[in-house]
Amino acid sequence: MDLKQAAQAVRENAHAPYSKFKVGAALRTTSGAVFVGCNVENVAYPEGTCAEAGAIAAMVAAGEREIAEAFVIADSPDPVPPCGGCRQKLAEFAATSVPVTLATTDGTERLTTVGDLLPGAFGTDHMDRT
Ligand code: THU
Repeated sequence: MDLKQAAQAVRENAHAPYSKFKVGAALRTTSGAVFVGCNVENVAYPEGTCAEAGAIAAMVAAGEREIAEAFVIADSPDPVPPCGGCRQKLAEFAATSVPVTLATTDGTERLTTVGDLLPGAFGTDHMDRT
């Protein structure tokens, strides 16, 4: 399955009545399976969830944990980078070298990696003295 098409399609399902900003995310795992997510906002604004978080939750619920590639798409002037929380969430399940494509709905794409999105990431080695 094409990650871009999967992210575009799930973006249509986003529940974004407050920001009006629909986001779609698709992840391919090392097994080759694809998981998708969209943002799901809530009238209690902080309860909303990001597209990346939804895709990660679907992946984990299916028993998978290793992201090989990610794609995020939104209708923005420039490819929208994942929020800080989503960078940390991606880093939980992806090596630093994992490619992440950020895209706009009109076709601009920016290729980055999980490591570049979250330099100096907090990891298990920071808890070595516990
Ligand atoms: N959003 C995402 O779903 N992913 C991102 O990477 C950036 C922001 C959502 C959250 C909220 O529903 C809307 O975009 C505006 O912030």
